[in-house]
Amino acid sequence: VGHHLARKLREGFKVFATYYKHHTRLRGVSYLPFNVENRTWVKRVIYSTHPDVVIFAAGHNRVDLAEKDPRGCERMHTGGPATISNTTDIIQPKFIYLSNSYVFDGNKGNYHESDIVLPSNALGKAKIGGENIVKAKSLNYIVLRSSPLYGRSNGTSLSTLDRLRMALDRGERIEVPDQELQSFAPIESLVEIVARLIDSGLKNKVIHNTGLTKMTLYEFCREFAKKFGYDPSLVLPIRAVRKPHPLHEEPSLPDYSLNATQTMELLKVKPMGIEEGLEQLRRNLIP
Ligand SMILES: NC(=O)c1ccc[n+]([C@@H]2O[C@H](COP(=O)([O-])OP(=O)(O)OC[C@H]3O[C@@H](n4cnc5c(N)ncnc54)[C@H](OP(=O)(O)O)[C@@H]3O)[C@@H](O)[C@H]2O)c1
Repeated sequence: VGHHLARKLREGFKVFATYYKHHTRLRGVSYLPFNVENRTWVKRVIYSTHPDVVIFAAGHNRVDLAEKDPRGCERMHTGGPATISNTTDIIQPKFIYLSNSYVFDGNKGNYHESDIVLPSNALGKAKIGGENIVKAKSLNYIVLRSSPLYGRSNGTSLSTLDRLRMALDRGERIEVPDQELQSFAPIESLVEIVARLIDSGLKNKVIHNTGLTKMTLYEFCREFAKKFGYDPSLVLPIRAVRKPHPLHEEPSLPDYSLNATQTMELLKVKPMGIEEGLEQLRRNLIP
């Protein structure tokens, strides 16, 4: 996510991108080594760059890893923004915090920006912690919750889509979870929203970035395979035991899809359906 943001924002801004273990490079972007858990170092970076805008795009978005190490996840997604908010207390830059759909309970889906948050996993809990810190400490914040994103990686760390494409290219089977509904969005839509948020001067709001089609990762990967001329039967589902649902009679999958009506009105952006998103991806992949 950080790489895509830097690539777009360098067109109009002086961008300082930070890296932890993987130093990527983009022309026109200044790179700084960074560890959000090292307060002294965070302070040094903030005071030497004096940013007008801070975008918190650190940490992974993986539920399984978060469950294995909930304390580490909290240190990153809650402790990280706390350290940065404390350090930027005096200069008060615009603080854009990237959150996700796991802040909701997954019982109903189509969540609006103002719906009640009730996370049921470690990643969602750590994100809520981060959202609350930012809201309490920053005078100029945006909490930007995004559905899972699809797009190419930065070439150093592979994205889910890269791994899928490589497996399908080799004719190999690949197993992907068929366990929850999400409204997947292309990375470009998130980047566009961030650019507009910086220009618009909007502040102290919760914003949603989402796609229009609700599906599981397995369904998404099959659509990708069909669109790009691969054999969809190579994509195999990892099924979940469907649990009784508090609102439905039939057991069903958790639904973390987001609604972005408010975001559309505020920023004049239009979420994409899966067809349109994959078509955009095709144009970007095959120039
Ligand atoms: N991807 C999505 O679908 C999605 C959706 C909603 C929200 N988000 C949020 O967006 C953010 C980025 O997600 P992503 O998919 O880009 O994850 P990612 O590909 O795993 O990237 C994680 C980034 O965090 C950096 N990092 C790791 N440990 C760090 C530390 N201790 N201090 C400072 N930086 C550190 C990594 O740097 P190095 O690579 O140099 O180690 C890397 O740049 C996360 O907060 C995630 O929750 C992502």
